[in-house]
Amino acid sequence: MKNSKGIKSNINIDKLPKHIAIIMDGNGRWAKKRSLPRNFGHQEGMKRVIEIVEAAHQIGIGYLTLYAFSTENWKRPANEINGLMKILVIYIRAELERLHNNNIKINILGDISELPETPRNEVVKAIEKTKYNTGMVLNIALNYGGRNEIIRGIKEYLKDIEMGKISVEDLNTDIFSNYLYTRGQPDPDLIIRPSGEQRLSNFLLYQIAYSEFWYSDVLWPDFKENHLYEAIIDFQNRSRRFGGI
Ligand code: IPE
Ligand code: IPE
Ligand code: MG
Repeated sequence: MKNSKGIKSNINIDKLPKHIAIIMDGNGRWAKKRSLPRNFGHQEGMKRVIEIVEAAHQIGIGYLTLYAFSTENWKRPANEINGLMKILVIYIRAELERLHNNNIKINILGDISELPETPRNEVVKAIEKTKYNTGMVLNIALNYGGRNEIIRGIKEYLKDIEMGKISVEDLNTDIFSNYLYTRGQPDPDLIIRPSGEQRLSNFLLYQIAYSEFWYSDVLWPDFKENHLYEAIIDFQNRSRRFGGI
């Protein structure tokens, strides 16, 4: 791989993906390879979050979505879940000021009411503090599942029907987008999944209808700015047809 500057300079700034979404995977395997407990992998992964958010902000990405905890991740052992929640709290406490100074707006995809109190309070603080920011939107998918998001959207829509705000006939794909956690945002142009897995794991099922996928065997704790740049350049060389010719 060329040095960071070399690769970065090959990015066409006029053709940036508006919205990049990353399935941050492989922390556990990274730790296992080093005979360390899984939470060490998550800790190392948090450092990559800091770097990748900074890199995406620097090049001018409008929306960055990071899959941090899925609705299925509650199946993991309690000590791993607690470790992940602690890391989330550490991340927000350490980074909120800088994110805010960079005009980044934090948005959560997922149901935070089910989080333990401390991480929930930190998350609410981060949303509140950055809510008027106009720079990059940082979506953190937390207790997020694509199927749940769709069901939730349907329920919200039904409530609006009941309240007489809208009718059954009004529903179309654009209107329904406004009932998702990503309302008002462009759909992801590029989905990145490190760690060698080639599956969605319940991520953004509605929004990714025409997203481009980029996979890599690199584990998330080894994911550097260069991998992000490589994915963007690869994306820029693809031909998106959206069903046309
Ligand atoms: C991703 O890494 C982080 C979360 C899902 C929270 P994993 O913990 O899934 O790592 P692997 O897939 O076991 O290596
Ligand atoms: C997807 O990774 C969820 C996150 C990255 C937060 P998982 O590790 O949970 O996905 P599976 O189990 O390999 O499908
Ligand atoms: Mg995994």
